[in-house]
Amino acid sequence: MNEAFLKACRGEATRPVPVWLMRQAGRYLPAYQEIREKIDFLTLCKTPELAAEVSVQPVDILGVDAAILFSDILIPVEAMGMGLDFYEGEGPALTPPIRTEKDLKGLRSIDPAVDVPFVLETVRILKKELSNRVPLIGFSGAPFTLAAYMIEGGTSRSFANTKRMIFESPSLFSPLMDLITEVTISYLRAQIEAGVQAIQIFDTWAGILTKEDYSRYALPYVSRVFKGLEGLGIPGIYFVYDGGHLLESTPGSGADVIGLDWRTDMETAISRLGPNVTVQGNLDPCDLFMPEDELRAKVDSILRQGQKAKAHIFNLGHGILPEISYEKARLMVDLVHELSA
Ligand code: CP3
Repeated sequence: MNEAFLKACRGEATRPVPVWLMRQAGRYLPAYQEIREKIDFLTLCKTPELAAEVSVQPVDILGVDAAILFSDILIPVEAMGMGLDFYEGEGPALTPPIRTEKDLKGLRSIDPAVDVPFVLETVRILKKELSNRVPLIGFSGAPFTLAAYMIEGGTSRSFANTKRMIFESPSLFSPLMDLITEVTISYLRAQIEAGVQAIQIFDTWAGILTKEDYSRYALPYVSRVFKGLEGLGIPGIYFVYDGGHLLESTPGSGADVIGLDWRTDMETAISRLGPNVTVQGNLDPCDLFMPEDELRAKVDSILRQGQKAKAHIFNLGHGILPEISYEKARLMVDLVHELSA
């Protein structure tokens, strides 16, 4: 097996540097689009053979050093009792939004084996199909990010409903976060028992909080999730999108690896995190529009800066965009391997 990714997760600096891409299974790949022409996104998530197939695509096509389970962070939220839809170009819709005591009462905890069996089946099929070529990453949303989606009923510009609940109805926000945290722990545990070899927690919306609010209303729940998985021996990555102002707090999550978005350059991020932290990131996804020589220089610069960390896993600073050509993504993977060899 290609151990580079797992070694780096454990803090061992490796040459070449391992690389994978957030959202590496997705619409920028013609092979993915071909499957999506026949089946909608949610059905794809719930059809293990096909979900496994699209997870393997970037391993075959790009040569990345890890596969990630094909699913979505909102799948367990649907299992908790909310209606979930994805509208083309608009993102997810969750109904009804959680705003009152009564809405909260309508949510339930989940038993992953019963409520999301297709996720665990996808992991089992993937393990067979990857046959130890590269490790498999499982994932979940962070409790705060899931709560924000649930309270807003989708994405939002200001997240006013979420902040309103935090400040106006703490007696509602706190049990909601407790429930999501418990669900997240059992969901990730089930993925680990089914065979994933690392996990990543995506905190897409924590960046809307001030540093002080983040440390009260988001971070403690993430650290409860990582604590709840301690002893299973599986490394954890924690990625906060647009969380430059939160960097110093994130190692407090207990994650083994801190994912960096592209806004803070790697060198600055490492100096703020300290040299004992393993980092993942952080090429601006739009840098994949650059011509080859400029992209090469960018990749080289990030690799050089990454040497100052305990270990480095190369990635984008957020998900790959559908507008990117897969040839360019493959070039990036090749450049990482070549320049860090
Ligand atoms: O990384 C991977 O390749 C694994 C699969 C994966 C998906 N979503 C598939 C997906 C992962 C890890 C996610 C995580 C996810 N989902 C996040 C956290 C990462 C981030 O982007 O910040 C979030 C916020 C979501 C919620 C979500 N799912 C949104 C906002 C959208 C719509 C946006 C869009 O691009 O259309 C999705 C849909 C989604 N999830 C797609 C994929 C491949 C596109 C669906 C399609 O049309 O085929």
